Amino acid sequence: MGLLLPVFLAFLAALLGALYLLGMFRQRQPGEPPLDKGLIPWLGHVLEFRRDTLKFLERMKQKHGDVFTVQLGGHYITFLQDPLSFGAFVKESREKLNFSKFAVQLVHRVFGYVAAEGDHNILQMSSNKHLKGDGLEVLTQAMMSNLQNLMLHSIGSDANQKTWIEDGLFMYCYNIVFRAGYLSLYGNFPHKPAEGGEKAKEKDRGESEALFYEFRKYDQLFPNLAYGVLLPKERMKAEKLMRFFWDALSVQKIKAKDNISGWIWDMQQARQEMGMDESMINRYMFVLLWASQGNTGPSSFWLLLFLMKHPEAMRAVKEEVDKVLKESGQEVQRGGPLVNLTREMLMKTPILDSAVEETLRLTAAPLLTRAVLQDLTLKMADGREYFIRKGDRMGMFPYSAVHIDPEIHPDPYSFKYDRFLNPDGSKKTDFFKAGKKVKYFYMPWGAGVSMCPGRFFATNELKQFVFLMLAYFDFELKNPDEKIPEIDVKRWGFGSMQPQRDVQFQYRLRY
Ligand code: HEM
Repeated sequence: MGLLLPVFLAFLAALLGALYLLGMFRQRQPGEPPLDKGLIPWLGHVLEFRRDTLKFLERMKQKHGDVFTVQLGGHYITFLQDPLSFGAFVKESREKLNFSKFAVQLVHRVFGYVAAEGDHNILQMSSNKHLKGDGLEVLTQAMMSNLQNLMLHSIGSDANQKTWIEDGLFMYCYNIVFRAGYLSLYGNFPHKPAEGGEKAKEKDRGESEALFYEFRKYDQLFPNLAYGVLLPKERMKAEKLMRFFWDALSVQKIKAKDNISGWIWDMQQARQEMGMDESMINRYMFVLLWASQGNTGPSSFWLLLFLMKHPEAMRAVKEEVDKVLKESGQEVQRGGPLVNLTREMLMKTPILDSAVEETLRLTAAPLLTRAVLQDLTLKMADGREYFIRKGDRMGMFPYSAVHIDPEIHPDPYSFKYDRFLNPDGSKKTDFFKAGKKVKYFYMPWGAGVSMCPGRFFATNELKQFVFLMLAYFDFELKNPDEKIPEIDVKRWGFGSMQPQRDVQFQYRLRY
């Protein structure tokens, strides 16, 4: 008995310690948001959250209101779902709500990249220089010539080119936009004078196609990889793919290219100057590929599909495209020069702009997450205050809080191409909730410190692609009555959503 008691006490202490670590004893303290730990120790609600994030957060909002803390896989996350109070999250100091801490862990898990001090500053500096203003002009021009290479290379070479070609719309759009975006950022095969430009263009087409094929494999594993729930066999597959990309995008291989974008170049150089190991820079190149190419392709699919399913929207966009082309003095002609779509022309398309925004409202659903580094008080727009604990996380899911809120966007599940236009044709920015103007009425790009630096380029890419499709091709759904496919709910929170299935369509050159 004398020996058993200490053993029993030690066991009890270990058990209580483990339960404490599992969060079993956490109780809601006065001033804190409602706490919902779920029934499973440590895991909490993570299974339901993973199954369908939107559904879960809507259920929690109904139960607890627009601020609540939930337990997800050992973390306590407070969700803020009142759009009028988003400023409190977005503008909180980095010392209290920190984006990098969480991002560093994620990029290590999914890309094998170990972040360095100053990483985020380099990204912001390079993005300010090359993804805006004059830098954006250069990149947009590169995108144009790469789109032309991929979409129009067969013009004039085939007598049968007016025959219809059938394809899956999702795969067609993702393929073209991914490859053109990749070539514009990471560069082209150099022209060898002896071979002429055509050979280099052919190599660009071949290499980008192979890269896209591998990217799609990784893309499909991505959600489970990010949540750390891949089966061992899938995990090995993901690691093999990572190694493929580290090599394909390596500093040495990119160095051998022409027309490398300033964005990629500056980020390689800055890391070399700070003494980062080249193998780690190669890994970072994969992070950038993912960030820059994982969303635009799926978005271009939704945009074309919505236009095809809404003839009035298609007509309005087509008229605008024709008008802009005409005003630029260019015409698409059989055997004539390829259309040069300049940045200036892209700035004269308010209807297409609104259609792009409406597409992203319905199909871009990022989850914004921050680590809580110090205790803080969350001040809501209506005067409520909540105490948030250091060591927790905070999250916002604007898709449910804003994009499909019927008060802010009436009839929220319908595609209305002119939703973001005023009656006089100017850009609409006035949206209201409870009689108050909503500042954050549209958030496909996130907000605050981590807001997407590629948003202007991404918008241009989508517009350029649609512009060329409309100017050069007839295209239609194989089945005009085809329903718009459901969203694949496993990807909530990862940016642009993907459809549960592809949709068959056909296209042919118009001239
Ligand atoms: C439709 C296309 C796109 C969508 C919907 C999108 C969306 C987003 C969102 C929501 C974030 C913030 C994530 C967070 O806060 O955790 C983000 C970050 C980022 N995006 Fe995009 N993006 C798109 C295209 C692009 C493009 C074309 C580029 C580059 C050329 C790009 C580069 C980045 C980078 C580097 C980040 C990380 C920013 C940081 O760490 O501060 N994105 N994007």
